[in-house]
Parts: sequence; structure tokens; C-alpha cells
Amino acid sequence: MKALILSGGTGSRLRPFTHSTAKQLLPVANKPVLVHCLENIRDAGITEVAVIVGTHAAEISQVVGDGSAFGLELTYLHQDRPLGLAHCVQLAGDFLGDDDFVMYLADNVLADGITQAADAFAADRADALLLVQPVADPRAYGVVEVGPDGRVHRLVEKPAEPASDLAALGVYFFTSRIHQAVAGLRPSARGELEITDAIQRLADDGALVRAQRYDGYWKDTGKAEDLLDCNRELLGRLTGPDVHGQVDAASTLSGSVVIEPGARVYGSHLVGPLVIAAGSTVTDCTVGPYVSVGRDCVLRHAAVADSILLEGAAVDGVPALHHSIIGRWARIGRSAADRHQLLVGDHANAEVAA
Ligand code: DAU
Repeated sequence: MKALILSGGTGSRLRPFTHSTAKQLLPVANKPVLVHCLENIRDAGITEVAVIVGTHAAEISQVVGDGSAFGLELTYLHQDRPLGLAHCVQLAGDFLGDDDFVMYLADNVLADGITQAADAFAADRADALLLVQPVADPRAYGVVEVGPDGRVHRLVEKPAEPASDLAALGVYFFTSRIHQAVAGLRPSARGELEITDAIQRLADDGALVRAQRYDGYWKDTGKAEDLLDCNRELLGRLTGPDVHGQVDAASTLSGSVVIEPGARVYGSHLVGPLVIAAGSTVTDCTVGPYVSVGRDCVLRHAAVADSILLEGAAVDGVPALHHSIIGRWARIGRSAADRHQLLVGDHANAEVAA
């Protein structure tokens, strides 16, 4: 089986971060979402992988390279514009040939892996296997109608009035029969070639399209809120402290605290789960729970909880920062004056205490 990873698109709901990077490179528990995806594919025993990339192709190849660091062979396929998920299958036609493949949307986190689903697909020999999960508001997803035998009857992309609460996850298993279904598709009302339309075609043509419920943790990290949720979940899975950096005697640590080599902590209270990456310095702070501090961050006289700090972020003299994502090399400091002074980038969102 091969894999097709979709890592193009615009990431407009994750601005301002996606002005300068791909949404699939945003970190949860200090690891890019795309890397979580590559690890799941490798763990399922797949090695031949094509990655669809768009405007952020250079940053993506800089981070994951030829895939050898993950035990994978990556082929990059460039998509000029995000013309839809089924367009990506068309682009990958030569790479995929007649092989079965898993199509994996690289902004999806499946914390319990895809190995069981890949094995089920290999054993069942359906033409397509969709993973589904009930959600509170299905209108943001492909919505699946499934019969009692597990066969998919209907699949509608982001319906205003969903007929079921089952959302399609961003992981789909296909045989080569999908290529006939994507050929000759017409753009949807939103101008994209929809994979949901292609799968509906398969089902209408009598192909066996199955749905299987994914019982593990799943999140589409399309919005900031989702990234924070994912960060909490993955940090919550850390087992035990793992301290390699330097921690002085005046600091206290509790819970699952991970401090990478080269990080330094002085006079601080660290409440796990949390992770502090190499090169970061934390001085006179309370950090945690549920905080991911990226590389080369500087925290001083601050309290930070439930947050993600990207590479190089600095927080100085801020008493209660929570539920926040701080971008690369961004700085948050305390003003001597009794006013707020903000230099906030395009499409950013800041909330200050009244
Ligand atoms: O997360 C599950 C949902 O993902 C499904 O329930 C929906 O049926 C499916 O359409 C998809 O919806 P999204 O609105 O979340 O898709 P998005 O546009 O965010 O694209 C998903 C991934 O595919 C993302 O990593 C960007 C990439 N992509 C997207 C398009 C449209 C491409 O690489 N090229 C594209 O043309």
C-alpha cells in the first residue's frame, strides 16, 4: 500500500501563523502535525509516500526532507492552487498506479494511529474505507450516512442540514477504482473537485464503500482552538518526567515534565504535562499544565498555562497567559505605562484582560 498526504491548501483559518508557514507544520506537543501524520503512516508499515504541497512547499521539504528520518521515501507533488481533494488524487495518478493507498489529510491528528484501520482495509477488500466519528456539529465535515451493514450510502460535503452526526475523518483507504471516479468530476459549488463526490460516485456505481468508526482521539486542526485541544491531548499522554536540560535547585517540578537537552530552567515552578524544547530559557516563571515551549524561547517572570509557544517566542512579565498560541519570534512583554501597546500582525487575534 502507498500513501498520499495532502499538505497543500491555504490554512486561512489559522492566520496569522499560515502567513509564514504551512498549517501542517504547526506544532502540537512540540512536533509538527505533519510529522505526527508521517509517523502514523510509517507505523502502519507503509514506506512509499507522495506529499502534495502548495505555496509552502519549501518550508515543508525543509522540515521533513526526503522522509528518510522517518523511514519513508517521500515524493513531492506540486499543486499550483488548492483545487480540491479529488484534484490531489488526479495529480498523484502516475505515482499511485494500480496500488491501494491511504489518503491522509495532513492537518488531521489521529493520536491512536491508523494501523488497525489499514489492517482492516487489507483484510476486507472493500473499494474504499472511510473512518468516521460522531461530532457535535457535522456541518463542518463530510457527513456520512451508513447502513446497518457498515456500507456507505450517502456522503455530503459540509451540508447545511446534516442527515447524520457521522463526520468523515481525513483518512481514506482506496483501491485503484477511485481513479475512475475522480476522472471527469466537475467542480462543486465552492469550486473544488470534492473527494466526497468521487466516493459517492463509487457507491452509486455499486462499489463497496465501507465506513468504520475510529474510536481513538481525532482532531482536524483547522482552527487555533483545535490545535490547543490537540496539544492538551498529546501532552496528557506523556508518561513520567524526562528531564535532560538544566534545572536549578530553586525550581520545582511536578507531573510529566519534559525538558530537552540544552533547555535551562531557573527559579520556576513547572507543572506537567508540559514540554520545553532545546535552547529555551525559563526564569522565575510558573509554567503548565498543558504548555509546549518550542525551541529558543525566553520566558521570564511569567505564568503560562494551556498554551503553545512557537520557536523563538518571548514572554516577559506577563502574570497570567493562558489558552494562547504565540508565533515564531513574537514577543509579549509588560508595559511600564498603564496602557496596552500592541503590534499585532495581519489576521491576528489578541484579548487583553480588562
Ligand atoms: O478533517 C476532515 C474533513 O477534511 C472531512 O470531513 C471533509 O470531508 C474534507 O473535505 C476535509 O475538509 P476540510 O475543510 O478540513 O479540508 P481542507 O480544505 O482543510 O483540506 C484538508 C487538507 O488537504 C489540508 O491539509 C490541506 C490539504 N489540501 C486541501 C485542498 C482543498 C490540499 O493539499 N489541496 C487542496 O486542493
